[in-house]
Parts: sequence; structure tokens; C-alpha cells
Amino acid sequence: QTRLGIISALAEEQHGLIEAMENPRRAVLGMREYTSGKLWNVDTVAVLSRIGKVAAAMTAATLVERFGVTHILFTGVAGSADFDVRVGDIVIAESLVQHDMDASPLFPRFEVPLTGLAQLPSDRELSNRLAAAARRFLDGENGPVLHRGLIGSGDQFIHDGVRLAALKNALPDLLAVEMEGAAVAQVCFELGVPFAVIRTISDNANESAATDFMHFVQTVASRYSFGIVKAFCEG
Ligand code: ADE
Repeated sequence: QTRLGIISALAEEQHGLIEAMENPRRAVLGMREYTSGKLWNVDTVAVLSRIGKVAAAMTAATLVERFGVTHILFTGVAGSADFDVRVGDIVIAESLVQHDMDASPLFPRFEVPLTGLAQLPSDRELSNRLAAAARRFLDGENGPVLHRGLIGSGDQFIHDGVRLAALKNALPDLLAVEMEGAAVAQVCFELGVPFAVIRTISDNANESAATDFMHFVQTVASRYSFGIVKAFCEG
């Protein structure tokens, strides 16, 4: 029996989902509100993780251990980390890296100690289904491109071109930066739960990132998140 956990960091990224739920049931646990119910006939639990790796890890673990979800989907926005990835485009993670993890010289930079992994792979089948849903949604939009590849997460809102360039130098394949995905990836890896991460690009992680981010989140983010989750559940 499939039970889908849907995590977003911000209320705007979850906008409309709770209202679209049939028979929603609310439960508050660890300062978060988990809403369970049917979304377009899929058994779901939706929750706001809040921002950052610990917040996301706590939320993902609770979804699995307390709410019995079998799959996790993370939907939200990210900063671009690649010239070809533009504001309004969508990135689906093939793998995720905790870009602020560095236990060197004990372990290689980026490696999550004792997992042997620096890049945590997302579930291929779930990500393929998500990509198909994103394409169906984007058919109704004008121009955004769907990218698939490496997403980096860290406890930093990146708003500095020099910092971004340094990160890109260390991780040349990096497509986008955000603050939760790789934490969910580690929890799901350790608990054996398939997961996927989808991000709409809100900014270029440079000096204008904060302004661009605020504007995008208020205008576009919710429509994208809602449209993609709907297409995914209906798919
Ligand atoms: N989420 C959206 N934009 C971001 C950025 N520039 N850095 C980190 N997380 C983000």
C-alpha cells in the first residue's frame, strides 16, 4: 500500500495542497503540522519541514517512522548553480550532495561519514514518474526547461557569486543549490525509503538572490509546486 509523504520548506511551496485534500486529518508533532488525506486518489501526508538540513531530516524521519509513508517527494525552489539552468526552469535531482559536509582529512570532502557516499542517489523510478508529471505540467507553460542532475544542499542561503563559483569549482556537475534535499536523501537512504526531489529555480544564488527569491516565491512557486504534485498524483 503506497503512502506518499510530501515535504516543502515554505508555506508558499505547499499552497493549495491541503485545501485539495479529501478528508484531511491534522496532527502536530515536533512543532510541525502533518496533514494526512487523499490527494487526487493518492494516500498522502503533507508537511512543512521549515528550512535547513536538520529541519528536513527531522521531518523526513517522522514521516517514515510515525506516519508510515512508503515514498517521499520534496517540492520547492532552489538557486541555479549552472549557466544553462534559468530562473523558472525545473531541476529534478538524480543525486544530492551536502555541500557543506567536510570531515576531511578523516573522510573525503562531501562524503557523509560512514556511508561511503558523497552523492546520495534519488529513486530512479519515482524521479522518472516525477519528470513525466513535470513535463505534462510544463506543456501548459511557456518555455521552462526540465533538467535532471546533481542538487547541492547546505545550511546557507547562497547569495554570493564568488561563493557559488567556489562551490561549482569543487562540484562541476552541480545544477542547483537549496537547503534540504540532501538531508532528506540521507534519511531516506538510511531508512530504505524511495524519494525524489523537484525544485523550481527562483534565483541565481548571487547578489540579487534574496530579492529574486522573495519575488519568485510570492508569485510563481506555489503554482508550480501545486501543478506538478497534481500531475504526479493524477499520473
Ligand atoms: N533556495 C532558493 N534559492 C536558494 C539559494 N540561493 N541558496 C540556498 N537555498 C535556496
